[in-house]
Amino acid sequence: MLHAIGSGKELTKMQYYALVSDILEDEAVQRLQFFRHHRFTTRLQHSINVSYYNYLICRRFHWDAVSAARAGLLHDLYFYETDAYERKEMPGQKSHSAYHPEVALENAKMRFALNPRESDMITKHMWPMTKAMPKYKESYVIVIVDKYVAALEFCALGFRRMKRYVWKKSAASENS
Ligand SMILES: [Fe+2]
Ligand SMILES: [Fe+2]
Repeated sequence: MLHAIGSGKELTKMQYYALVSDILEDEAVQRLQFFRHHRFTTRLQHSINVSYYNYLICRRFHWDAVSAARAGLLHDLYFYETDAYERKEMPGQKSHSAYHPEVALENAKMRFALNPRESDMITKHMWPMTKAMPKYKESYVIVIVDKYVAALEFCALGFRRMKRYVWKKSAASENS
């Protein structure tokens, strides 16, 4: 089962999947499932969430939905724990927000042929933390979608965990 947060659609049965299956089935991209992201989810699930909503929005406006879907999956293609980088950050060193889009672009370029729009979307997805302005409409979409999805991930999954915790506590107190 492959879902994006907030959507009940089975993504493997949608046209979307055919556009990104080579990326999703890539061994390196699959490794993203082992990294925690935005506290309650994995980096792979976050990338799927961003990719799918990028795709829907760009398709709605007849923009480049294919590049939007593909860049969404690759925009956080880095293989270190965010917290660990932030803990070791030195004065004068690039912040994680400015640094990881560059790493993601390098990792993505090693594995897939990217068009200029996809490269721009990956490197600018943290704008305005990355100084250069986005060049394409689709790049502004990923800037917004990335933040929107992060908020959903924090709230929805945090809420689910809280519910489970409260339920366990009340079950334990009934049994005592
Ligand atoms: Fe990111
Ligand atoms: Fe992201």
